[in-house]
Amino acid sequence: MASSICLHGFGVPRAAKEALSSLILHHKFISSIQSNYCFTRAFASSSVSITADKELRSPDLVALEYAGLNLTDKISQELGHVRIRQHVNPLSSSFSVPAPVPDWSEVFRDPTLPLMVDIGSGSGRFLMWLAKQNPDSQNYLGLEIRAKLVKRAEFWVKELALSNIHFIFANATVSFKQLVSTYPGPLMLVSILCPDPHFKKRHHKRRVVQEPLVDSILTSLMPGGKVFIQSDVLEVAVDMRKQFDSECGALQHIDMVDPSVLCDDEGWLLNNPMGIRTEREIHAEFEGAKVYRRLYQKSIVLN
Ligand SMILES: C[S@@+](CC[C@H](N)C(=O)[O-])C[C@H]1O[C@@H](n2cnc3c(N)ncnc32)[C@H](O)[C@@H]1O
Repeated sequence: MASSICLHGFGVPRAAKEALSSLILHHKFISSIQSNYCFTRAFASSSVSITADKELRSPDLVALEYAGLNLTDKISQELGHVRIRQHVNPLSSSFSVPAPVPDWSEVFRDPTLPLMVDIGSGSGRFLMWLAKQNPDSQNYLGLEIRAKLVKRAEFWVKELALSNIHFIFANATVSFKQLVSTYPGPLMLVSILCPDPHFKKRHHKRRVVQEPLVDSILTSLMPGGKVFIQSDVLEVAVDMRKQFDSECGALQHIDMVDPSVLCDDEGWLLNNPMGIRTEREIHAEFEGAKVYRRLYQKSIVLN
């Protein structure tokens, strides 16, 4: 049952999920008959208004999924259109300098709360949604290598007046260990969601999940802490899985810890346990792709 592994004790509002599913079905229907559909009626109560007579696209779904954050107007009013490079090379010398460690008591109201770190946080909206759900019980840190995304995310955080979330412009490969080791509270969850695939074999070394990062995550996690990974690219998911599975002395897949958690025949989680999808995940599922997920838990008693 999904609720048994829900990491934050809440689920996606059923109404929103049903509305999104029905929009997807409508999209397929619309595509097949080349018709139009008025979305404003379906989301009359939402702050996101999708223009009438417009075919549904995946950015519309992203806007709907994060409608509760009420960010849409603020982007255009304050920052205008943010042009962002598709990919960067994390091995280039410009990304080799570790990010400065912040004064944690300046960036979080209570820096002793359990921390979730999202590596490759992209726009940051996924993490903001979580932070808004748990304002007093957890802190959230996004590490992102594209500076403009971090700038925009920090702008949004200010607008939302959240004091339990922070974004750092950082190459996680070089900065994760130092940042996390200085955080005063326990590290309860690390997520690496739809990381850049770097398809070409000669570029695999640019992938974010490499042995030293896996080691740092494992060392820094509190006993019972979790690692959530996912990708819509099977090869990338398998690559990440191999690396975390190889730590089976200290990390167990969640279905071994909690038999009520269901996986498919290949051991991929049937559901996203976070209660919210990431942007890449929304785009991928919109295209009909499968998302491959694993959730690990660090042993509570270490040998
Ligand atoms: C495909 S996007 C996925 C974003 C988000 N996690 C999602 O699922 O929508 C991958 C993100 O990881 C970031 N990234 C790639 N390598 C990184 C690194 N070494 N350190 C931090 N962020 C990185 C990219 O800039 C990009 O925003």
